[in-house]
Amino acid sequence: MTVLVTGGAGFIGTHICVELLMSGHGCIAADNLSNSCLEAVKRVEEIAGRILPFYEIDVRDEDKLDIIFKEHAIDAVIHLAGLKAVGESVSMPLEYYSCNLNVTLSVLKAMKKNNVKSFVFSSSATVYSAGNSMPLAEEAACGGCSNPYGWTKFMGEIIARDAAHAYPEMSVVLLRYFNPIGAHESGRIGEDPLGIPNNLVPFISQTAIGKREKVMVYGNDYDTPDGTGVRDYLHVVDLAKAHIAAVDYSVKHRGVEVFNLGTGKGASVLEIIEAYRRVNSVEIPYEIAGRRPGDLAVCFADPAKARRVLAWRAERNLDEMVRDSYRWQKSNPNGYHEDGGIA
Ligand code: WQD
Repeated sequence: MTVLVTGGAGFIGTHICVELLMSGHGCIAADNLSNSCLEAVKRVEEIAGRILPFYEIDVRDEDKLDIIFKEHAIDAVIHLAGLKAVGESVSMPLEYYSCNLNVTLSVLKAMKKNNVKSFVFSSSATVYSAGNSMPLAEEAACGGCSNPYGWTKFMGEIIARDAAHAYPEMSVVLLRYFNPIGAHESGRIGEDPLGIPNNLVPFISQTAIGKREKVMVYGNDYDTPDGTGVRDYLHVVDLAKAHIAAVDYSVKHRGVEVFNLGTGKGASVLEIIEAYRRVNSVEIPYEIAGRRPGDLAVCFADPAKARRVLAWRAERNLDEMVRDSYRWQKSNPNGYHEDGGIA
């Protein structure tokens, strides 16, 4: 099977490409490198020991996207390309709606034009409404998103659903990610955010190597065991393997299926900091700060459906996640960039 991975040079995309290539599948990556770089693609090839055909394009460019379908016999698409910073989406809503909706429309139109029927969509736990009880199952209420990024994922799901309804031959699998962290065990690929990390674990990693002074803990007055926010952290390799299971499922089925991708366990900010410190024998200075607007107290998955239908479950534990995060960061203090410097 040959799979096109849009956003294939990114944190999650590179890990998916490695798993596809290591599983013997064909894999093509397309990415505009706005939040990644060519070095990441080269390292995927190094790990997998196989060539990864790569197209540096804006996936919204339908003509350039069409060339990929003409040059390769693609069986399925895993669609990750898009902007993904929650906070940034609040300050730049028009860019987020324009980019994330048009990139999804462009991919679905190219698939229809080239008779490719299997679409695996990178969605997010942010599509769930606030106020749901935990753990979150796929049937939980969606919409009422707290930020434009979440709305673009919610709307992307609707666009894909309507496409599947209009074209009954289509197969759509919607994957709602919880909190992907960690890195490939080789330490050669990992999370390399531009500028100051928005997310917790890359910030901890940069603090661990002295690139950041301390971690600001956004609130310790939530209704949680230690007062700090609780999330469902998932190893990025487990997440990547879920995509192999999803695309295998997709090419054998028609219609729409939704899956939560999480461990089913929650961990607090202070638990993550403590695990990171203990496993890696590094100090992680932190300071308690005020809550971050829009944050939920608790968010974690009920992953039973993915286990039942995809025969997938998260296998790596928190110690492995923070160990692999640190190995990546320590081996690549400036991510994929040689020049380094603190952004
Ligand atoms: C986790 C916890 C913060 C940073 C986001 C996106 C979501 C998904 C995963 C794409 C929270 C706390 C954070 C810091 C902190 N991405 N925190 N200090 O917000 O759960 O989810 O990433 O799909 O869409 O919303 O992840 O890592 O930002 O925060 O205390 O410097 O860590 O308050 O409790 P989040 P996060």
